[in-house]
Amino acid sequence: MENSYQKLENSKLLDLTGKTAIVTGGAMGIGRGIVERLAEAGANVVIADFDLESANKTVEELTAKRYSLYAVKADVSSEEDVQNMVKSTVEKFGSVDILVNNAGIYPSVPLSKMAKEDFEKVIAVNLRGVFLCVEEVSDQMITQGKSGKIINITSIDALHPSMIGLSAYDASKHGVWGFTKNVALELAEHKIWVNAVAPGGIATPGVAKMNQPKEGQAPAPQVNQEEMIKAFMAKIPMHRFGESDEIGKVVLFLASDMSSFMTGSQIVVDGGALLS
Ligand SMILES: NC(=O)c1ccc[n+]([C@@H]2O[C@H](COP(=O)([O-])OP(=O)(O)OC[C@H]3O[C@@H](n4cnc5c(N)ncnc54)[C@H](O)[C@@H]3O)[C@@H](O)[C@H]2O)c1
Repeated sequence: MENSYQKLENSKLLDLTGKTAIVTGGAMGIGRGIVERLAEAGANVVIADFDLESANKTVEELTAKRYSLYAVKADVSSEEDVQNMVKSTVEKFGSVDILVNNAGIYPSVPLSKMAKEDFEKVIAVNLRGVFLCVEEVSDQMITQGKSGKIINITSIDALHPSMIGLSAYDASKHGVWGFTKNVALELAEHKIWVNAVAPGGIATPGVAKMNQPKEGQAPAPQVNQEEMIKAFMAKIPMHRFGESDEIGKVVLFLASDMSSFMTGSQIVVDGGALLS
């Protein structure tokens, strides 16, 4: 592989003008934080979310800032939806240069209460969903013959468990980290760089929902969410939850030329939580 390194001046390092990014689960939470940073850097951004109403609302709110955005309904665990997501992106903007696999679910269920379907659903969305999106997008990137960036949102739980009740989630996120490294190895010859960002506790609608019992169900007796989240917060040396934008900024770094010599890495963004 020839050395194609080009030194850019500082003002160009974060410029994504002319690039197109797909952010799965970009309608709210961490995904929205990522969408905003990539769009501000000049990228066309496709929000691929199974909640099309929220995705459209986000597009509407951000279009007022003159960002170039488009919403597509996609469940990342559906092969058909993922194929359609890539097809619609190429039809709308002509290419896919950046993929951020952010869509994920984290239901808290102790093993003793876990139905087989609970486990399978988490793996289907968090792990198989990443596989489906990477497979489809990398094919497109290889056809385009240009370089590409893939960023997988894992979790500190890809390295160390944060609380009881997340065994399926931790299995899925460890899986995504392993997948990230192997795919980085395989796709390097096509100049497709694959990295991961591992957030710690980030204040999002999904985390807020963890505190509420599911509709028509009493909270699982073994998992007191409020207590768990309090205990988790006590372990964060920065004494606060992170903001979605604090993940958005790190994803922008990995999507841009700032990270030109990085592939197969995972950046932990957790306010120091893994230290304790
Ligand atoms: N919030 C945290 O503290 C935290 C910590 C570590 C990792 N993460 C990871 O960050 C990602 C985003 O988390 P969040 O807290 O912003 O979640 P959230 O629940 O607030 O938002 C998730 C978004 O993804 C969408 N989504 C869910 N399932 C989908 C599917 N099958 N297909 C397409 N879209 C889907 C939802 O509609 C929503 O817009 C997840 O992968 C999560 O595991 C979050």
